[in-house]
Amino acid sequence: MTSLTVTPGGALRGTLTVPGDKSITHRALILSALAEGDSLVTRYCRGEDCLNTMRALQAMGIPIQEQPDRLLVSGKGLWGLSEPSQPIDCGNSGTGIRLLAGLLAGQDFFTVLTGDESIRRRPMGRVVKPLRVMGATIAGRKGGELAPLAVTGSRLTGMAYQSPVASAQVKSSLLLAGLFAEGQTSITEPRRSRDHTERLFRFFGIPIREQGRALVLDGRPATGWPGVNELPVAGDFSAAAFFLVGASLVPGSDVTISGVGVNPTRIGLLTILQEMGADIQVLNPREEAGEPIADLRVRAASLRGVTIGEAQIPQTIDEFPVLCVAAAYAKGRTVISGAGELRVKESDRIATMASELRKMGATITETQDGMVIEGAAGRPFTGASCRSHGDHRVAMSMAVAGLVADAPSRIDDTVCIETSFPEFERKLLELTTPL
Ligand code: S3P
Repeated sequence: MTSLTVTPGGALRGTLTVPGDKSITHRALILSALAEGDSLVTRYCRGEDCLNTMRALQAMGIPIQEQPDRLLVSGKGLWGLSEPSQPIDCGNSGTGIRLLAGLLAGQDFFTVLTGDESIRRRPMGRVVKPLRVMGATIAGRKGGELAPLAVTGSRLTGMAYQSPVASAQVKSSLLLAGLFAEGQTSITEPRRSRDHTERLFRFFGIPIREQGRALVLDGRPATGWPGVNELPVAGDFSAAAFFLVGASLVPGSDVTISGVGVNPTRIGLLTILQEMGADIQVLNPREEAGEPIADLRVRAASLRGVTIGEAQIPQTIDEFPVLCVAAAYAKGRTVISGAGELRVKESDRIATMASELRKMGATITETQDGMVIEGAAGRPFTGASCRSHGDHRVAMSMAVAGLVADAPSRIDDTVCIETSFPEFERKLLELTTPL
């Protein structure tokens, strides 16, 4: 079993880049595969989650040439996918399996989608149920609530769907299904989730429009869309998050992360950290492939507790594990509510972060949909042995906590970091080692 040992002490100093955005990479691969001709996807995320989506598309007959810094995807048009001869393994990726379920529901072939132990525990009904309303034929364990999912491609019809959850995975799954459906598909969510799918639709020239709070798409477009010369993927804000918090906590730190995606539907952590007193500057704002990006400079600062409610959850959803670390070290109490979705991520992140941070001396009370954290006001955590629970963001968050502990900490079962940020340990070491 792999583990990571973090030795506290050194300030984080220097400049770095982070991997390409995981959410955007999944979508870039899928939309390039459906385009007519070649697309070059650069600075993509090489985490296992995205590589699994790439392999899935290759198994469906899409040629993809893989290089460390670029993918050449030879799209075969909207109806160009073919039946894979084996079940598709989505690994640990909720985005991969849910987006592929939507993509495959309207094909004229059969597919089985599965994944690792965590994926086979996570709720699939949130996509299976609305896809069935569109005419999809999907079977799975517990009536389709759990993977493996068996998708028998069917003739779909568009629908107007009011999603009960603010979920980009649900929205994107239905938009992909909507492309293959007869008539119009419209989707409304209770709060706006990340909008990478909508942005990439526009980047490829696929018509999609907003009507009030609904997203509307006409299915089976008469003309396809060509591949794109270059699709540079923005740096992943969710990967940058670990350094934003780490450099905020360790005295003397000064780190610049260049080319990070700052899409407003993703940067809740930035706003919350600034409200907590963090010193973060957003520099050189620019746009690439329809996404806003910038360089982020972060310097150490004393943080104070904060109250976070339902309205701030979607744009912060993946950053709660590392936000818990910031809150546990800050001065005063942090209250998080309306975040029940955290319980159905790669792990139950309310339970896993509470249990792991308690091992390091933090005072945390779980609630059904959040937690109350009594900050240590800068008193070092206790160096400890922690577990990732197979969750990449828990693993990296506990490594950040280890930076401000009174002794080295060991995080066990860190192979999961490969799903999103294979170079995390090296990048962290580079920042903490004086040149
Ligand atoms: C993602 C959406 C989010 C996020 C996940 C990636 C995506 O989930 O937690 O890590 O790429 O669509 P939901 O919006 O479905 O909650």
